[in-house]
This record gives sequence, structure tokens and C-alpha cells, in this order.
Amino acid sequence: MIDPKAVHATLAKHQLADGFPFVMDLERSQGSWIYDSRANRRYLDFFTCFASWPIGYNHPGTLEESFRREIELAGRNNPANSDLYTTQMADFVEAFATQVTPAEYPYHFWVAGGALAVENALKVAFDWKAHKVGVDQVHDGNDLVILHFKAAFHGRSGYTMSLTNTVKDKVALFPKFDWPRVHNPGIVFDLDGNIANDIEAEEAKACAEIEAAFQKYPGRIAGILIEPMQGEGGDVHFRTEFLAKLRQYADQHEALLLFDEVQTGFFGSGKPWLWQIKGVAPDVVAFGKKTQVCGIYASKRVDEVPDNVFHHSSRINSTWGGNLVDMVRCRKFIEIILAEKLGDNVAARGEELIQGLRGIAREKGNISNVRGVGSLVAFTLDSPETRNAMIKAMRERELLVLPSGPQAIRFRLPLVVSAEEVNQALERTSEALSTLVGA
Ligand SMILES: Cc1ncc(COP(=O)(O)O)c(C=O)c1O
Repeated sequence: MIDPKAVHATLAKHQLADGFPFVMDLERSQGSWIYDSRANRRYLDFFTCFASWPIGYNHPGTLEESFRREIELAGRNNPANSDLYTTQMADFVEAFATQVTPAEYPYHFWVAGGALAVENALKVAFDWKAHKVGVDQVHDGNDLVILHFKAAFHGRSGYTMSLTNTVKDKVALFPKFDWPRVHNPGIVFDLDGNIANDIEAEEAKACAEIEAAFQKYPGRIAGILIEPMQGEGGDVHFRTEFLAKLRQYADQHEALLLFDEVQTGFFGSGKPWLWQIKGVAPDVVAFGKKTQVCGIYASKRVDEVPDNVFHHSSRINSTWGGNLVDMVRCRKFIEIILAEKLGDNVAARGEELIQGLRGIAREKGNISNVRGVGSLVAFTLDSPETRNAMIKAMRERELLVLPSGPQAIRFRLPLVVSAEEVNQALERTSEALSTLVGA
């Protein structure tokens, strides 16, 4: 096997290899800690592989012999799950659909990758809307559009590039659809967690733009798509009142309300889905990352069109329909998360982190808008340059975090994180901040 010190050079001969400078040791990484076998250092993992790794590394539950046999068998074979079924797949689907998806959502579709999950949510909406208005009225669907938001990130595949608008380089120069994009009325929090900006004015601006879009595209808006909390766009939180307005618009104008929970879902907020905390139920949810298997689930509203994509063969599909190894792993994760009440754990730990960060902000200044829920916690610095320097200073203290929007930092906690680890992260954050502000 290649020496850890040669990993980057080996990769760089054949591909772009500008990722993290360390090499993850899959055996020695444990729980909330990533072991770097290049420099023999241990990092506190508060980025969790871009919010995709839920239960820490080498969780004891995944070392059990029966699970090892099951995942090894799935790993040695790779059935085309969409059409060729196995008991392993049925075990996974049953667990996900009864223990993670709420009962009001009877339809599921599985695929590999979060962007493709979102794309298929869009396809559900396009097909549904085309049937609603009359398939001969929308020029083979070409007149249909998706209303979406500024600072949204939905992926980098075909349709989703027309929606993603965080960092220009990610979508520039690729052909895109010109779909209606409206203001994102994010909350700014003060250090007591109260709303500090004029959120009603923000929401009024967004609503005016949405209403203008419905006038500009009469009968053509197939779906309203939003991340219930925008991740890459800057950990932008919305009020329940605003999401409820979107629900109203979707009902009034016969559009589907689509939530992208690729980053927020699967207990990231403490609950299976962030929308359950917000109390506004969408029609279709796209999921990925922590779920391992990506995909969508949909409510019975889709049955207003009887011949919808969940009944009509091959309207949405892919060869593998997700991956069986991911299915086996996800089923085990569900078992572990529920047995160990990891949703409750991360809800409590996230709150401790938020309170600790607010304490640091009061003491040292220079950070603001501390916000979050469960594993999804962020704060803002005073400029993009300070933010980048802060990430570097945190990494030097062996704490891994992510940028968020132009000048924020986001934590994505493992659901297994302990109170002690949260304390360590706070200490390291405070020290890193001191190096920046000379406090
Ligand atoms: C909200 C959201 N949607 C979609 C995606 C795309 O997922 P993937 O990178 O698996 O295609 C991401 C990835 O970061 C995301 O955060």
C-alpha cells in the first residue's frame, strides 16, 4: 500500500488533488476524531466530511460480526437495485420509510448523490405541473420553471446548476436555465439568540418578488425549492412564518413545495428532518449526505396527478438506484442513532456549543450572529479575510470546520459528539480567535 506521505503526490500525478493536506487513517480515526497518518496528528472533526458522516468513525456498532458479514456481502456484489431486489434492500427501505420518513410520505426514490436527489425532486414537480396544466400546454415541459432563492446551493449537476448561486466559479460558463430567483430573507441573531434584523421587511421583500414571479410565469412555476436552512450560502435561517408563506403560495398556485434537506436532514437538527422543527410540511424532500443513500420522499399530494412519476415506470430511474453498501450502512446507522438517542444528544451538544460561542463573542467580540440547531452551528466574522485566517488558526489547533457563505464558519458536529469534545472545540476556537484579534 502507498505510504501516507506519498498519497498527495500520487494523486496529483493523475487528478486535481487540492483537498485537505492530511491523509485520513481509516482504522485509527475513531468517534469524533480523524487521524492524519501523514503527520501523525489527530483532528477534532467538526466538519464531518461536509456534513455527510453522522455517527463518528468506527462506531462500535459497525464492528459487530453480523454487520461486518452483511456489508462485506453487499460490497462484493452490486445489484441494480431499481429492478433487482434483495432482502438487504428491503430491510433498509422498511427501516428508512417507517423510522425516518414520517408516515404522511408514502413515496420514495433512491439515487446516488445529493444533486441527483434534488434533480429528481424537480422532475417530480415538472411532471406533476405539466399534467396539471395539460401536457400540450407547456411545450414538452420547456415552459416550466422552478422558483428558488439567492444564496442557494443545490448541487452541480445539470438542472441544479440553474439553481445553485453561491460561489460563481461553481456554475459560471456552463449553460443554465433562467429560472426565477428571489431574495432569501435570513435571520440575523443577537447574542441572546433574538432576531436582530427587520425580518418582516426582509420577508416582505421576498414575498413581493415571489408574487411578481407568479405573475411573470402564470401557470408555469412547477415548484418552490428551498433549503430550510441554507448551508453553503452562509447558514441562513428562516422563520417558520416565512416557510408557512411558501406553503401557502405553493397551495394557491398549484406548485409543489420542495425542501432540499441534503445538508440539514437525517438528524442533523436533532430531529429526522429540520422541517419537523420548523413545523411546515413540504410536498417533496430531497435528502443525501448523512443518509448515505440519497433520494427523495413525497407526500400524497403528488397523487392529485394519478399517473405521476411514482406510478409511471421509468419516468425517474437510474441503474443502481442508490448503492446496496450505502443501504446496508444506512440501515445500521438508523438502528444506532435511534438506540443511542443520538438526535437528542446532538440537540443538547449543539445548544452547548451555541451558548459557549455566544460567551466567547461577549468576551472577545469579533464574532457575531451565532446561530444553529443540533449539529448545524455557525458564527460570522467581520470579513472574508478574517474568516479564512480563522479557519487556518482553528486547523492549526487541530479543529476542522468549514467556511459558510462569504464570511461565516460552520460546524457540522458528529451526532455522537460528547460534552467534553464540545468544550475542547470551544477552547480551541477561543484560542484561535485570540491569535487573530490579539486578545
Ligand atoms: C443543500 C445541498 N443540496 C445539494 C447538495 C449536493 O449534494 P452532492 O454533493 O452529494 O451532489 C449539497 C452538497 O453540499 C447541499 O448542501
